[in-house]
Amino acid sequence: MKLDKVNQLTVCLPGDKSITHRALILSSFIKGKHEFTNFPINEDVSSTLNILSKLGLEYKIKGNVIAIDSTNISLKSVESLDCNESGTTARLLIGYLVGRNINTIIKGSKSLLNRPMRRIVNPLKLFGANIASNKDRLPVKIDYSNKLKPFDYNLKIESAQVKSALILYAISIDGKSIIRGKIKTRDHLENLLRYVNFPIKIYSDRIEINGKAEIRKNINLDIPGDISSASFIICASLLTKKTSVTIKNVSINDYRIGFLNAIIKMGAKISILKKRIYFNEPVADIRVASTNNLNGIKIKKSDVASMIDEIPILSVLACKADGDTIIKGIDELKVKESDRVKAIIDNINTMGGVAKLVGDSLIISGNKKLHSTTIKSYEDHRIFMSFYIANRTLAGNINKENISNSYSKSFPKFINIIEKIIA
Ligand code: S3P
Repeated sequence: MKLDKVNQLTVCLPGDKSITHRALILSSFIKGKHEFTNFPINEDVSSTLNILSKLGLEYKIKGNVIAIDSTNISLKSVESLDCNESGTTARLLIGYLVGRNINTIIKGSKSLLNRPMRRIVNPLKLFGANIASNKDRLPVKIDYSNKLKPFDYNLKIESAQVKSALILYAISIDGKSIIRGKIKTRDHLENLLRYVNFPIKIYSDRIEINGKAEIRKNINLDIPGDISSASFIICASLLTKKTSVTIKNVSINDYRIGFLNAIIKMGAKISILKKRIYFNEPVADIRVASTNNLNGIKIKKSDVASMIDEIPILSVLACKADGDTIIKGIDELKVKESDRVKAIIDNINTMGGVAKLVGDSLIISGNKKLHSTTIKSYEDHRIFMSFYIANRTLAGNINKENISNSYSKSFPKFINIIEKIIA
């Protein structure tokens, strides 16, 4: 491909969703005047913000800047709080609100009602919480408890949501808490807490938190772009080969770059430019150059957490690679907004590709000719976005009636940006 035929596109993405949920919650914990620029306005972040506002957080949004005043905040108990479809909102806030001893009922809708809450409810019960779930699902009722205590807990599930929920509980409770076990997942909350000088210590095998520290600091953040949204752009660019994209200011947190590592191994030409650190978070510009052939790869179970949200779009890329791509240890993907393993297999096979589940491995055969179909999104934003790109780039077509707005959950500008790359 000749370079002069390649369009160059520079993209800036709204702030990272995971960082934003955590920064908002912390801004209700640390009294002060906080300001976040590149604040992303999407459904999941709005769920967290609306709940915090109901609890007493005051804020103003102007363009992509949010100014928060929590100088005099005192969280108040409210009858119920609706997380809509945001799993991160639900799990993080359950940990936080138990620690803050707020009486309430945490509710959700649609896909969130099917998602497991036992992973967070059970440890909190061990620490003395007065908490009840609906058969391990939402709604979760939180009542006052005078038995809350710090903990020394071995985390068995590789989940940043659970880890963060436990940290948010721990910062609210007097005394030293320790989390051991599977702590090597996205560490945005730990980075933010270190940034505000909260007494948190991170070791290779444990995290120690001294709760209830009085921190007075105004948190001013320029939130870096969301790597999970970036993965769709990168993939669309690799598959069309018409547009070379540079995505500016993307969060490249050590525990979230599994997708980048995987596609580089597949043969994609990616440059990580101007690496720098914002509030302890690694940030860079990502440039996608054109790529010749992609090859199938094997992904180990231990790498899955670092690309957990990117596996649907990685699976689309795998359809174009030479040979099989095998992703081991895929079970957590079954309990996301949809059963993503089923959704990936279903969509690829309906398009004429070959994907299957063998044991706990997802296997996608490469270089199959795909044809366009109705996207079976299962109302899941990442499934919709992945198979929108698959239909547009690998099958060359998209049925317009097929377009749902599920992508507003995380990436409201998805179609605008992707169409600039593909068209
Ligand atoms: C998230 C963690 C991941 C991810 C989710 C966001 C977070 O979930 O899938 O979209 O912000 O902590 P798990 O922790 O359940 O793996």
